[in-house]
Amino acid sequence: VSARLRIGVAGLGTVGAEVVRLLEAERDVLARRCGRPLEVAAVSARDRTRERGIDISGARWYDSAVDLAAADEVDVVVELIGGADGVALDIADAAITAGKALVTANKALIAHHGTALTEAAEKAGAALCFEAAVAGGIPVLKVLREGLAANRLTRVYGILNGTCNYILTEMERTGRSFDAVLREAQDKGYAEAEPSFDIDGVDAAHKLAILAGLAFGARIDFAGVYTQGVRHVSAVDIGYARDLGFRIKLLGIARLTEHGLEQRVHPCMVRLDTPLAHVDGTFNAVVAEGPAIDRVVLEGRGAGAGPTASAVIADILDVARGVVAPAFAVPAGDLATLPASPMERHVGPYYVRLSVVDRPGVIADISAVFRDENLSIESLIQRGRAPGEVVSVVLTTHDCEEAGMRRALAAIEKLEAVTEPPVMIRIEHL
Ligand code: NDP
Ligand code: HSE
Repeated sequence: VSARLRIGVAGLGTVGAEVVRLLEAERDVLARRCGRPLEVAAVSARDRTRERGIDISGARWYDSAVDLAAADEVDVVVELIGGADGVALDIADAAITAGKALVTANKALIAHHGTALTEAAEKAGAALCFEAAVAGGIPVLKVLREGLAANRLTRVYGILNGTCNYILTEMERTGRSFDAVLREAQDKGYAEAEPSFDIDGVDAAHKLAILAGLAFGARIDFAGVYTQGVRHVSAVDIGYARDLGFRIKLLGIARLTEHGLEQRVHPCMVRLDTPLAHVDGTFNAVVAEGPAIDRVVLEGRGAGAGPTASAVIADILDVARGVVAPAFAVPAGDLATLPASPMERHVGPYYVRLSVVDRPGVIADISAVFRDENLSIESLIQRGRAPGEVVSVVLTTHDCEEAGMRRALAAIEKLEAVTEPPVMIRIEHL
């Protein structure tokens, strides 16, 4: 058996504590799998006195996680603190500068600095691994990078945020409020330290930007991700979606178009007969499509201590074996810079819900706006009948260009009989 691998764990919260616990609980089998013993040699967190339910008595404590990253007794630095900048970035820089392997679950860090960190790591001859950053327990990066290496992928998409999927699932299943389900997701350790990152789609956008960079051999373009979260998804729309044969899911979708790289995160109506419609709770799913494979569908828990620790430890094992592929499948210098495909050019069907005063001529006025923008209505239903009162009008369209849809909704909002801003949810062909 060769020399032990000395691990420094920076951050002992939901994920960090479970990584330490699992490394200890599965010590023997992990050593057999990678051919050498794994040892947690050093740890760091904010509060040294906090009870964490793990035994860290054999590890050296560091008040400064950056010092831990540079310490001689650490071979691989495992960053489980979080945040795009600040201490997480300092740890990454310190580890790479020292030529050490860096393992992280930090999607914000990688979405913002992943290309630069990969370049620096390659120069330093250091491994950079972030399997846990995308889709928790699903080994999706390894599958795209290695298992699907023979393919030119055409589209990658999926359910990438466990907290949002949990909220949408529970709202539909139990009728509970958005806020109540979000609090539960926070209590269970699924949500980010800043939960607006989850519900505003930012976390899914971080993950999509990483996936797209890997799938399409491109420098990460987080700023190029069109991002819309789930705050405006109401129980009313969840109900109408059901009636129309859809479920609402927050999806991240990336593909190459004639305009460049399309990356978008937003709530989607997906048909009940597609696999993603039935991925519920904290489960995530990622679909990769390409001419050779047709499609590969991966599903698993996307958030929480166990699934995330599983992915972190898989990276540690790769480091221990010394078999780490280039983070984005090709050397960082070969990554392309792709223009962002504008959202205004997106083409697809739409669901629109309007609140209107129930009186003759209103539907004609709405239809006229769609006609003037050359947008084709597939179905239009007035929900309820209450002369002189406000009722819902729900319509779906055939394929439309987003720019025209936005102009139509702006015009409809100005109609005198329309009492609230229109609700628009894109319908996704999967
Ligand atoms: P937590 O908030 O539970 O844990 C964060 C840990 O970092 C805590 O132990 C905290 O210390 C420590 N910490 C904070 N600031 C510092 C600092 N300056 N120096 C040293 N330690 C510090 O976060 P999670 O475990 O949930 O998430 C960790 C990372 O994993 C994040 O990047 C997150 O995005 C990612 N991730 C999380 C998933 C999840 O389901 N939770 C899933 C996939 C990825 P203390 O305990 O003393 O306060
Ligand atoms: N907050 C994230 C989620 C954790 O809910 O998906 C997993 O990355």
